Amino acid sequence: MGTVILGTGSCLPRKALTNFDLEKIVDTSDEWIRTRTGIESRRIGGKGEKTYQIATAAARQALDMAGVAPEEIDLLIVGTISSHMLMPSCACFVQKEIGAVNAFAYDVNAACSGFLYGIDIADKQIRADHDFKVLVIGAETLSSRLNWRDRNTCIVFGDGAGAAVLGHSDDDGRGVIGTNHCSDGRLWQLLYMHNAPSTNPDLLVADNPGVHIVMEGREVFKYAVKAMEDSIVGLFGKTGLTMADVDLIIPHQANMRILKKVAERLEMPEEKVVLNVMNYGNTSAATIPIALDETNRAAMLRPGDTVLFCTFGGGFTWGATLISW
Ligand code: ACO
Repeated sequence: MGTVILGTGSCLPRKALTNFDLEKIVDTSDEWIRTRTGIESRRIGGKGEKTYQIATAAARQALDMAGVAPEEIDLLIVGTISSHMLMPSCACFVQKEIGAVNAFAYDVNAACSGFLYGIDIADKQIRADHDFKVLVIGAETLSSRLNWRDRNTCIVFGDGAGAAVLGHSDDDGRGVIGTNHCSDGRLWQLLYMHNAPSTNPDLLVADNPGVHIVMEGREVFKYAVKAMEDSIVGLFGKTGLTMADVDLIIPHQANMRILKKVAERLEMPEEKVVLNVMNYGNTSAATIPIALDETNRAAMLRPGDTVLFCTFGGGFTWGATLISW
């Protein structure tokens, strides 16, 4: 018995931006992007596809699958770094849209780790109160936070949203097995959002090209591989499980080379690793719930399967989660 995922959903913006399209925007090539990142295409949010709007669409699907009414949700969390407003939170906008009138709602700012941090919070709330129902969403429109002249970053990221409804189950052997999450603010300069908007004259930055992601790609790569590996090994240590016990691995879809390195180091069987980074790029907090929803809808998950999730993102933030489906 434990905290289980009752339903999942996802929403991808309609417009696809391929590597060939990017060749017309910055000095790059399809071949370079594919060999360095594995990415072929990503989605870009347009009219009616703000972060809260795609989050809402994903949430509705998850509620529908779970058979849970919006009024039954007690807590609504959105992992995001790209809400269209800083206040109110994206979570409050989603709450209003779906009518989750009995929930309290807030965002988790943990970059790519936002969804797994949200699952951790949900698990603890539900363990404390078995009647609690939590809606956790990962949603981003990072296309609005990129410098489209910086070929280091604009080729990597994309837009999308995924959601999960969580609650308690009395079924033996099902639920969240363990979580192992970490952060290290000392390394913030390697990946951050430049220039939060300000109207305070003392805080204004003279050279302000707008809010955008800055990244030291090579350094991020190194830390991401090591951190994901350590958090998984740490989680196995905590739970007494090993890679042999894992049926499916749903990693943060950062880029193919990072994922291949982590898989190699931990001897993950290739056929157990879920990959969709080639289609959507890195959608930050949304990659895991989108991949989870696709896997779930493809009936690749059976009750009792052990599913391993791992993530790494700006902050730095990272971690791993094990769930018995
Ligand atoms: N197209 C063509 N050439 C490029 C591009 C591009 N888009 N970007 C950089 N280059 C050039 C560079 O200018 C450089 O040229 P030079 O040798 O003449 O100076 C050369 O390619 C190599 O550049 P590097 O930055 O060293 O390329 P690298 O092999 O490290 O690949 C990449 C860059 C893909 C960003 C890689 O570092 C990476 O994957 N990092 C991880 C980043 C990541 O996944 N971040 C996501 C957020 S955190 C997370 O989710 C884990």
